[in-house]
Amino acid sequence: MLRTHTCGELRLTDVNKDVVLSGWVQTIRDKGKLIWVTLRDRYGITQLFLEEGRTPQEIIDTVRKLGREYVVKVSGKVIERESKNPKMPTGDIEIDVNAIEILNESKIPPFTIEDETDGGEELRMKYRYLDLRRNPLKNNLLLRHKLSMETRKYLDSQNFVEVETPYLIKSTPEGARDFVVPSRIHPGEFYALPQSPQTFKQLLMVAGYDRYYQIVKCFRDEDLRADRQPEFTQIDCEMSFVEQEDILNTFEGLVKYLFKEVKGIEIEDLQRMPYDEAMKYYGSDKPDLRFGMKFTELNDVAQNKGFKIFDDAELVVGINAEGCANYTRKQLDKLTEFVRRPQVGAKGLVYVKYNEDGTFKSSVDKFFTQEDLKQWADKFGAKPGDLMLVLSGEAEKVRKQLNELRLEMGERLGLRNPDVFKPLWVTDFPLLEWDEENERYHAMHHPFTSPKPEDIALLETDPGKVRANAYDLVINGVEIGGGSIRIHNRDLQKLMFKVLGFSDEDAQKQFGFLMNAFEYGAPPHGGIALGFDRLAALFGGQDSIRDFIAFPKNNAGRDMMIDSPSTISEEQLEELHLKIVEDKQEEK
Ligand code: AMO
Repeated sequence: MLRTHTCGELRLTDVNKDVVLSGWVQTIRDKGKLIWVTLRDRYGITQLFLEEGRTPQEIIDTVRKLGREYVVKVSGKVIERESKNPKMPTGDIEIDVNAIEILNESKIPPFTIEDETDGGEELRMKYRYLDLRRNPLKNNLLLRHKLSMETRKYLDSQNFVEVETPYLIKSTPEGARDFVVPSRIHPGEFYALPQSPQTFKQLLMVAGYDRYYQIVKCFRDEDLRADRQPEFTQIDCEMSFVEQEDILNTFEGLVKYLFKEVKGIEIEDLQRMPYDEAMKYYGSDKPDLRFGMKFTELNDVAQNKGFKIFDDAELVVGINAEGCANYTRKQLDKLTEFVRRPQVGAKGLVYVKYNEDGTFKSSVDKFFTQEDLKQWADKFGAKPGDLMLVLSGEAEKVRKQLNELRLEMGERLGLRNPDVFKPLWVTDFPLLEWDEENERYHAMHHPFTSPKPEDIALLETDPGKVRANAYDLVINGVEIGGGSIRIHNRDLQKLMFKVLGFSDEDAQKQFGFLMNAFEYGAPPHGGIALGFDRLAALFGGQDSIRDFIAFPKNNAGRDMMIDSPSTISEEQLEELHLKIVEDKQEEK
């Protein structure tokens, strides 16, 4: 038998039991006469105790040959520890070793397998299997597992059926590039990996499955960020005979259930905010509602006072940072520098300090009297001691810039607490988005999203004005999920493709299978997909999803451990008919 117990299991009540443990050597403390070894497995750490004269010498000799990360099996008796370690669940006991067997040796690991490691990012990615032995990563993966189990439990309780959809498909437009797989049997033809199972889940609704879900891999060839990986996982869902309200309620239920079961937190009913409101008051379609600093528009009190920059601006808008009137020159300069960074792109920052004595001190005192600034303060609802920060310019741009400043202030003031969760639904997204570069409309969500029935007439006259039956789940400023009510009518779907610039022929070629299905009794349906990696990272209190994925890609989209992507052999290229393509290109 390789073990009777795990390394996280034994307690005082087990004293005197004969046990067998297997695991990895974490530390060895050799004090000459006395030796302590700690043994680690997934469940925890248990201390082994050896004493010269008492422990058989050949065991002591074997222990002296051990190195970090050796895999060993030990037998012994559980004894009470003399000096207990209250920080360890097994800290009251140790094992008086009476047999040891080295199951496997280990080279010296390239970094320490401790909660705080000395290994750099690259090295840890290369030896991911060693990094995964560390508690922080292990706990992330266990959290992810718990989330997936609870998600399945909830969805099962709501009659959702898990159905697997294929990975070798053809392009589904979710706004990113496709990863493609060349076909050996069909020269010059390619499969695409799904950016999401969108069309398949809709077909499952046509097939009558009523409620579908899948915890599923999706593939998108897009630039990587902290919350984006080229392959990631969705909790993908679809429902029939539902309206938007039904979907929001079902998934609000899931969100509350997960917070309760996984984090022990009772979440209040989710706020709802129309897209227009989110943009107007937060400059973002994913507002972080853990803190206030809602935007205040100042055009009526800040313009026509002789300050040209404001007078020329489409929008003068600001935030009120409570209790920040004592900011020093240096701190204010830092904020100005922040908004001027190319990533933010503002030209400058106007500040107004509302001093404790009721006077104002601003960077635009030349143009505005104390009475003027009092009017601003009233608009902001500011109190003495507050600091008003104001930007101006083209409305859409300035709102985005102020969003960055708001988040930065939230960060500086410690208001973005990872233990506080403020989920909300952002609703009423525009159906289409104008693409300046290509001079055409894109579907803001995807082309299968239904316009609001009352806006359908606008599709052919003023497409930019059409609102969609689409919604996002946003938590703490992160887009966790998105979905919509779908089009289930062939003619409307055809019209949508037309608005998106597809010729009838192209639409038929790419999506004929879906439009044809709509002719065989497609029920009204809709759904949502939650980013599972993002959800796990959020629950784990982190911004980056990478350490919630067992084997992620690095920032350059590489898997450092298996070294991929990589070249393939000439034979493979030929077999896949890629060699010919390459030769042809060379000829050109
Ligand atoms: P959407 O494209 O909004 O919708 O994706 C749903 C959610 O998936 C997550 N996500 C990602 N996570 C990590 N890395 C990525 N590269 C990445 N891209 C997206 C986000 C996002 O909110 N088929 C639709 C859903 C539907 O309409 O039902 C879809 O895929 O958290």
